[in-house]
Amino acid sequence: MVGELFAFHLPHILLQFSEIQNIAEAVCNCMQISERTYLVTGGSSGLGAACVRRLVEAGANVIIADLNEKGGRQLESDWGSRVRFVKTNVTDTAEVDTAVSSASNEFGSLHGAINCAGIAIAAKVVDREGNPHSLDAFRKVIEVNLVGTFNVIRKVTAVMIQQEPEASGERGVIINTASVAAFDGQIGQVAYAASKAGIAGLTLPVARELARHGIRVVTIAPGIFETPMLAGLPEKARLSLGQQVPFPSRLGRPDEYAALAQHIIENEMLNGEVIRLDGAIRMAPK
Ligand SMILES: NC(=O)c1ccc[n+]([C@@H]2O[C@H](COP(=O)([O-])OP(=O)(O)OC[C@H]3O[C@@H](n4cnc5c(N)ncnc54)[C@H](O)[C@@H]3O)[C@@H](O)[C@H]2O)c1
Repeated sequence: MVGELFAFHLPHILLQFSEIQNIAEAVCNCMQISERTYLVTGGSSGLGAACVRRLVEAGANVIIADLNEKGGRQLESDWGSRVRFVKTNVTDTAEVDTAVSSASNEFGSLHGAINCAGIAIAAKVVDREGNPHSLDAFRKVIEVNLVGTFNVIRKVTAVMIQQEPEASGERGVIINTASVAAFDGQIGQVAYAASKAGIAGLTLPVARELARHGIRVVTIAPGIFETPMLAGLPEKARLSLGQQVPFPSRLGRPDEYAALAQHIIENEMLNGEVIRLDGAIRMAPK
């Protein structure tokens, strides 16, 4: 009798156990970093370079797509065969194609992109002498920051949708870089703020569209980080900027950006969101 009961229940128990195992596997099988390949634009310097270091330390292969050859080659020689620098202008479709296809050629696959390439200018709509903002300068910032980001998104997506998904159904992660200027742009940041607001704005529609392919899209909006982009400012100005941050009252460290990028890759529930990483700073008008 006991034997009969056992024989009746055993398959159910085993079935339930295997279901629990499947669920546990699905929880653990979020996007991995080790043995996966990521493309990092702007990876030769600042926030992008910090991501390259963190990803490689976690066992990934990385393609650096950047115009800055010196920084990129340095990282390549620091990390050996796991990092490849491909000189790339993110606004140039053929060059982005080369960078994206080098991921498959060098490492066999592509699991995500971190878009860090960007430029900043400071110019008012009309300056003190009454001269209007250069339209070419406005266009250039939109072209590099917004169009360049979208150019990379569309190209990496076309490759990632062809790949076999992870066990969880996930195929890739795209991380973009906006700025707090997308929300509280200062006087003189009109072009930069517009470009970054565009990146914040594309995050949700792209995440919605790519959901069916198992590709997540998240944007980080950094506050003020200590990178070469800020190096041009005098020490006094940088200190003062740091003191405007409620807590911690300092500039952000590039590895704090990279740590968030790593978490976004590993946390499957983060999708379609713009995350401020800014110590609660809200930028004043000037
Ligand atoms: N540092 C900050 O405080 C801060 C704050 C908010 C947002 N951001 C954004 O973070 C990103 C990274 O900035 P960062 O501070 O590390 O600056 P950075 O100047 O150190 O790095 C930017 C990198 O982008 C590359 N780049 C520029 N134009 C390019 C192009 N057309 N094609 C390919 N690469 C190009 C540069 O060569 C450089 O290596 C930028 O998008 C920037 O707007 C920075």
